[in-house]
Amino acid sequence: VSAEKQGYKHFMLKEIHEQPARITDALRGRVSVDRGDVDFGEMGFDEEWIKGLDKIVFVACGTSYYAAQVAKYTIEELARVPVEVDLASEFRYRNPLITENTLCIPVSQSGETADTLAAMRQASELGAKCLAICNVIESTIAREAEGVVYTQAGPEIGVASTKAFTTQLAVVSMLAVWLGRRRGTLDAEEAREILQALRDVPGTMDKMLHEKAIYKHIAYNYSDVNSCLYLGRGNLYPIACEGALKLKEISYIHAEGYAAGEMKHGPIALIDENLPVVILVPKNRVYEKVFSNLEEVKARQGQLIALATEGDNGVRDFADVVLEIPDVPEYIQPLLSVVVMQLLAYHVADFKGTDVDQPRNLAKSVTVE
Ligand code: G6P
Repeated sequence: VSAEKQGYKHFMLKEIHEQPARITDALRGRVSVDRGDVDFGEMGFDEEWIKGLDKIVFVACGTSYYAAQVAKYTIEELARVPVEVDLASEFRYRNPLITENTLCIPVSQSGETADTLAAMRQASELGAKCLAICNVIESTIAREAEGVVYTQAGPEIGVASTKAFTTQLAVVSMLAVWLGRRRGTLDAEEAREILQALRDVPGTMDKMLHEKAIYKHIAYNYSDVNSCLYLGRGNLYPIACEGALKLKEISYIHAEGYAAGEMKHGPIALIDENLPVVILVPKNRVYEKVFSNLEEVKARQGQLIALATEGDNGVRDFADVVLEIPDVPEYIQPLLSVVVMQLLAYHVADFKGTDVDQPRNLAKSVTVE
């Protein structure tokens, strides 16, 4: 077994480090920077139908649900089509508005999650066409959908999802460009920029993965806290939620992901010197807004862990710990930020000595309702 871990202490750590290579796999043969387009040759959807679709509905569970939430931001912006995102378990028991022009996108690493499969079947019965984003080849969801885009993450052993998520994000970015190009909402030049930035992700991520000391420092200082708040805004709100999910899954520390703008409507009551607050505040369109959250947390003596753009000294003045990502376009920020979230959770859990790869009570794939 240790050979399979290739020298890493846990599968999760191995899978975190594998991400640059797996994202490269996900992009291979699909991205053409020169043409400013994406080729999903295997997908099998009629381009005319794509032009006329009136709504996209994502259904997913767990970490895959957060990939779908990121997709909402990217697809609505680049392809100008309304996107709804539902937890599959919620979608099943309401009376969803689906037409024959609805595209349903189930997102599932395993392709076997019972709720996601049932939600997809329901959408299909109501007339939607289904395009699955799956990792496991020939899984049930992949087989039953009209089309499938595989994430190419390879087998994921750690119960807490890492590389399956980042490859989902890579697919989501490609899908947004693909849709935008077909629907005429994205020109080739803009597409080229986004695709080039996506191409640069593996190299950038690889460099980020060499940083260790800061995470050990955080683990040492924060592993005995009871609770932790994660704040993000825009396409980093789902990443705040995913960061909180990772921490609670493997370290058993209660953690909550919240939209930064909602802090004043509740979580602010929790802040005192005992509460670590992780704030995702890289340079982007909501930077100033999120920066004000830093000030508010600091004013209440909260422990601030900030994720910021490299060299942002303004954030350094406020935060107790600063974690950095390089200065990259907004569409790329979720992909790099989540790696920081994964490492943070991993090192806290490892310091606590939990069963990182098989946390208590959790299953890799939930095939019953
Ligand atoms: C379980 C796993 C999670 C995963 C979720 C959805 O809860 O522990 O890591 O995100 O199921 O799984 P799926 O295979 O549908 O992505």
